[in-house]
Amino acid sequence: MKIDLVTIFPGILEGPFKESMIKRAADRGLVDIDLVDLRKYTYDRHRQVDDAPYGGGYGMILKPEPLFEAVEDLKNKSVCEGTWVILLTPQGQRFNQHRALKLAEKKHLILICGRYEGVDERVRVALVDEEISIGDYVLTGGELAAAVVVDAVVRLLPGFLEDEASADESFSELLLEYPHYTRPAAYRGMEVPPVLLSGNHSEIGCWRRKQSLKRTYERRPDLLQQADLLPKEKVFLEEIKKQQS
Ligand code: ADE
Repeated sequence: MKIDLVTIFPGILEGPFKESMIKRAADRGLVDIDLVDLRKYTYDRHRQVDDAPYGGGYGMILKPEPLFEAVEDLKNKSVCEGTWVILLTPQGQRFNQHRALKLAEKKHLILICGRYEGVDERVRVALVDEEISIGDYVLTGGELAAAVVVDAVVRLLPGFLEDEASADESFSELLLEYPHYTRPAAYRGMEVPPVLLSGNHSEIGCWRRKQSLKRTYERRPDLLQQADLLPKEKVFLEEIKKQQS
């Protein structure tokens, strides 16, 4: 996958992709991430990327010309069919694991990091395929949001995670994960549940599934509405509800 991040502050995004798992994915050739400085696509002396809003009002708006030129240049240079252009903005659709899975199917993503009070509307209308928000709060710009999206997408690319890990994982089925433990078996009076030490893998699997259901019910009951549960899991859920009512 090729990912271009268009920003006026490339420095903000240098750290996240030079460390740990995302760097390893890039080193292994699973993804090629480029930071594109929007000012490269300005031609005036001041390298101006923003301007005052027509009609007056507070703040500055990102101008259309540098953004159009940047995206068109990146598309022209692309060796992949079907580039997908994303604008990070609090006005976008809320990002979640489902959207991450959809984006992981694309070959080339261009993420535009919004800034200041906004982006010229013609960019949204004619350049952008999807607007994404990472949550109901306002950041000073789209850079950190873009880092979140890239991280969530890259870890879903084929070859990034062990097969087992991705199948078992939180949200792949829209349930929260069961509790995890490692050595020591007892710590400060807190014991690891004996079933996990039993070596009985079918019992362990059953315990984990139940814990997962219980945790989801307690913390994110909204997720259960979309979960595909077996009849015996529905019965178990009813038991939990009774115990807690
Ligand atoms: N830019 C500012 N706030 C944002 C948010 N919550 N999500 C995406 N981009 C943003």
